[in-house]
Amino acid sequence: MKLALSTAEKIVRLPNHIAIIMDGNGRWAQQRGLPRLEGHKAGVECLHSVIECLSEYQIKYVTLYGLSTENWKRPEDEIIGLLQLLEEVIDEETVELHKRGVRLRHLGRLDGLSPPLEQAVTRAVELTKNNTGMTLSFAFNYGGRTEILDAVRRLIAEGIPPQKIDEKLFNSYLYTAALPDVDLVIRSGGELRISNFLVWQTAYSEYYFTEVLWPDFDRKEVEEALLSYSQRQRRFGGL
Ligand code: IPE
Ligand code: IPE
Ligand code: MG
Repeated sequence: MKLALSTAEKIVRLPNHIAIIMDGNGRWAQQRGLPRLEGHKAGVECLHSVIECLSEYQIKYVTLYGLSTENWKRPEDEIIGLLQLLEEVIDEETVELHKRGVRLRHLGRLDGLSPPLEQAVTRAVELTKNNTGMTLSFAFNYGGRTEILDAVRRLIAEGIPPQKIDEKLFNSYLYTAALPDVDLVIRSGGELRISNFLVWQTAYSEYYFTEVLWPDFDRKEVEEALLSYSQRQRRFGGL
């Protein structure tokens, strides 16, 4: 008798670059009568198993959306809590990721973060820069439109002649310089939007949306997303 294939066995094609909008932390906490910050803490916890699973699948590039430029509109106590949480975990997490050969990158603006946090991010990037395993980019204080404007400003400031500006050159002026285009965007938390994430880099990405709130996103959810991607037919405008 032939046994049914498991989700993992049905995955035949893997994305090279996965970008994740980790949404739903606040609602996860609210559903449990907890402060929103508890949801963010649970979100950090679940990230471990997600990264572990993606490295088992040998996904080469993973980009995580941690804080948008628009998130500064939130109440001050949530923002302060989020920044503190990152400051608390960054050094410890970096040591673990470094051991596993992960190369860390930061996408976004470092100005606006506190000097200790800015230094911690710079340290993490510097420590892991020669690693050859997964490239894990963390979009924090990141905005897709700001990224494009920052690139345009630099192109003009450097006096680059307009005829020299093509997609390849423009790419190299983005925060994501040298990263490949995103193949798969995963958004947890049930919203069907991109919320200013990687607007240039996702022009031809596949999208996977799930109702599951980020702190509940586990290995099974990762595999569901990978399976969905594996079943897509990508045409890039061709036939
Ligand atoms: C995503 O979770 C994390 C950040 C934006 C920092 P949210 O905080 O947006 O959670 P919900 O969407 O309110 O549930
Ligand atoms: C997107 O989530 C940003 C992050 C996950 C870091 P938001 O919760 O900020 O997005 P909107 O406001 O619902 O679009
Ligand atoms: Mg949200």
